Amino acid sequence: MTALGIVGAGHIGSQLARLGVASGYNVVVSNSRGPETLSGLVAELGTKARAATPAEAASTGDLVIVTIPLRRIEELPSAAFAGKVVIDTNNYYPRRDGAIAALDDESTTSSELLQAHLPNAHVVKAFNHIYASELLTDGSPTGTPNRRALIVAGDSAAARRAASALINEFGFDTLDLGPLAEGWRIQRDTPGYGVRLNLDELRAAVDAAMRYRDMS
Ligand SMILES: NC(=O)c1ccc[n+]([C@@H]2O[C@H](COP(=O)([O-])OP(=O)(O)OC[C@H]3O[C@@H](n4cnc5c(N)ncnc54)[C@H](OP(=O)(O)O)[C@@H]3O)[C@@H](O)[C@H]2O)c1
Repeated sequence: MTALGIVGAGHIGSQLARLGVASGYNVVVSNSRGPETLSGLVAELGTKARAATPAEAASTGDLVIVTIPLRRIEELPSAAFAGKVVIDTNNYYPRRDGAIAALDDESTTSSELLQAHLPNAHVVKAFNHIYASELLTDGSPTGTPNRRALIVAGDSAAARRAASALINEFGFDTLDLGPLAEGWRIQRDTPGYGVRLNLDELRAAVDAAMRYRDMS
């Protein structure tokens, strides 16, 4: 795999683009306002990066990352994502995203909403529980004692493996949560969310997670 398509070039997208270039990928970044608005980021990233539309970033990427506000996922051009492994960094914040009943009653999860919008893609939840700034500071080589760990969740085991391989290259161990529906275990306000944890600690944190409805 050589090309990483990134849809969303804000706090998380730009950091993942930096990690992608540093790991040797050809990186295609995109946002909603158009490639010309990303000239500064592309200049910083260097010759292995270019800017394109979201559709081109998705269709070019061997692996695609969606890192945009949840309320905007329905704008994504679904056909361009067909057959792709799509890493989703999304989190649901009602004040930012507006109330979404199916998330408020926990009958689904944010990444399952993206999967529903991209039915022919293989969505993997990842990178949602680490702050953007920490993506460049908290990574370390495989085998480093107390290495930080990040989750993957997705309905395709092959897609989870592909995402895990990328995360490992970016400097983190991975904890496989299984299907997308298990992603609630690392949603906002759960014990593993936004905290630096190694693999054993992350496993304990997701095991201890509670549904919002069960929180006092
Ligand atoms: N910030 C963090 O530390 C952090 C950590 C973990 C997870 N997350 C989650 O990751 C997601 C992104 O967060 P962020 O902080 O990186 O957001 P952000 O800084 O606000 O950046 C959002 C990016 O999405 C782009 N975008 C919006 N709508 C789009 C569309 N329809 N097509 C293509 N691009 C679009 C925006 O481009 P334009 O400016 O051109 O509209 C912008 O580049 C959120 O769900 C957030 O909760 C954030």
